Amino acid sequence: MSEEDVVPAGYVADLFNLSGQIAVVTGAGSGLGAAIAIGYAQVGVKVALLDINDAGMAQTEQKIIEQGGVAASFHADVTSKTSLETCAGSILAKFGRVDILVNSAGSAFRSPAEDFPEEKLDFILDLNLKGTYLAGQVFGNIMLIQGKGNIINIASIGGFRAYPWASAYLASKGGVVQLTKSFALEWGNRGIRVNAIGPTLMDSPLTNKAAASTSITADFIKSRMLRERLGLSRELIGAAIFLASEASTLVNGHTLMCDDGYLIA
Ligand SMILES: NC(=O)c1ccc[n+]([C@@H]2O[C@H](COP(=O)([O-])OP(=O)(O)OC[C@H]3O[C@@H](n4cnc5c(N)ncnc54)[C@H](O)[C@@H]3O)[C@@H](O)[C@H]2O)c1
Repeated sequence: MSEEDVVPAGYVADLFNLSGQIAVVTGAGSGLGAAIAIGYAQVGVKVALLDINDAGMAQTEQKIIEQGGVAASFHADVTSKTSLETCAGSILAKFGRVDILVNSAGSAFRSPAEDFPEEKLDFILDLNLKGTYLAGQVFGNIMLIQGKGNIINIASIGGFRAYPWASAYLASKGGVVQLTKSFALEWGNRGIRVNAIGPTLMDSPLTNKAAASTSITADFIKSRMLRERLGLSRELIGAAIFLASEASTLVNGHTLMCDDGYLIA
């Protein structure tokens, strides 16, 4: 065994340690982003919440502070590079650096492809794909200067499987899977890893809002689930910690499915 192969004492104990790191979480005012932000804070990460939903961010921030964590809210629109750059300046002024970026801002709109409204197509692609790209670019540039960082995009089972009335969403999430690989390829030798999480259908405000307009998408997905059980947002926290930590140093450009086996068949 070479010296480098030796496992030093305490190595594993520190493998998932993120304490003291700074994370930016987009979409932190609701759903999956809020849960990941709270989960990070519970392991000692200082969290910059980023959203256009000020009331939602205030709730997430309050929960984190009540639990003894550190968080601050930053209003920014991920579809605007100018807005992200201004926000990044405020985050650097407050926290000094950015170790982790989680891109969770996103939305869905359901309509048959033949009638899909052009403005909704623009909205979904702008938010889910361009927003993920721009936030990765703006905070990735900070990480490139630092020579260190981890980016985690929230993709979806929809990046791999089709379901009805979700054409723009599916295209956007397929794009996020490829975007994850392309950023990982370009920045992998400069200290930055870029991965994604691919959740199944989750119990979140987004799912509930979409289900109120039509259940056709959710019914299709549920009929193919191994267990007819929605994911809970807190069930993504472990993956978000793993991908940001030293436990995943060989994982890059990967979409880690948290899909309760949805992609098996
Ligand atoms: N809910 C699911 O079943 C599910 C499954 C797989 C993947 N996802 C993905 O997870 C991510 C989060 O979904 P969610 O269920 O938490 O949704 P959500 O609607 O609960 O939360 C999304 C958050 O993004 C914010 N946001 C919207 N537009 C923004 C903008 N322009 N700039 C900044 N923030 C903005 C919203 O204000 C909201 O707080 C999305 O990318 C979604 O596609 C969700």
